[in-house]
Amino acid sequence: MAGLRLAVLISGQGSNLQALIDATQRAGFGAEIVIVISNQPNAYGLGRARKAGLSTKLIEHRAFASRDAFDDAIDGALRDARVDLVCLAGFMRVLGDAFVERWRDRLINIHPSLLPAFKGLDVHARVLAAGARISGCTVHYVRPEVDAGPIIVQAAVPVLPDDTVDALQARVHRVEHVIYPLAVELIAKGRVRIEGDLVRLSGVTTEDARLISPARPS
Ligand code: GAR
Repeated sequence: MAGLRLAVLISGQGSNLQALIDATQRAGFGAEIVIVISNQPNAYGLGRARKAGLSTKLIEHRAFASRDAFDDAIDGALRDARVDLVCLAGFMRVLGDAFVERWRDRLINIHPSLLPAFKGLDVHARVLAAGARISGCTVHYVRPEVDAGPIIVQAAVPVLPDDTVDALQARVHRVEHVIYPLAVELIAKGRVRIEGDLVRLSGVTTEDARLISPARPS
């Protein structure tokens, strides 16, 4: 394993964490998870991490008097674990501007829409209410503005006529589990360069029948 040292921050199910765990177990992936942090004691993902033998840390936001104090505790845990790249994976707390700046270009997030459309919460319900025909997900670098920042990888899925929130969410989740590991792999392999508000990729193509851009690098 070895390579890029990842932290994965979760609040719930941790299915994206699981996708990252599975990816790091592939030979030549180029990254390993050195710590999983949850702000929720009953996050299902904590069990996934333990099952995989990963180091876990519970940092409950409720235990802190201010957001800065909570952010500092996370920052300390990341430094102690000598983390190179922080992956937010269903982490449902907004991190403060100072934290985001401290981890600038080393902090990525997955969001269940095709950003910049449908930032914020309750994405799938709003996609359905808007009558959108296509939805998807985005892995992006984090900036102080919520759900904004240079886009690394996106995947699109159809919105079907009889979709429910659960059905659409499940369809988007399936591609999230492809693009989050892909984004990390691209970073680990040095194929991602940030230029201002944009990501430039090298050595990858955008040809892919599954509407995932870019396609997995060869
Ligand atoms: C994912 O769909 C992710 O995109 C979303 O939370 C879910 C977590 O699922 N993140 C956000 O909405 C962030 N604003 P998981 O715990 O099974 O990975």
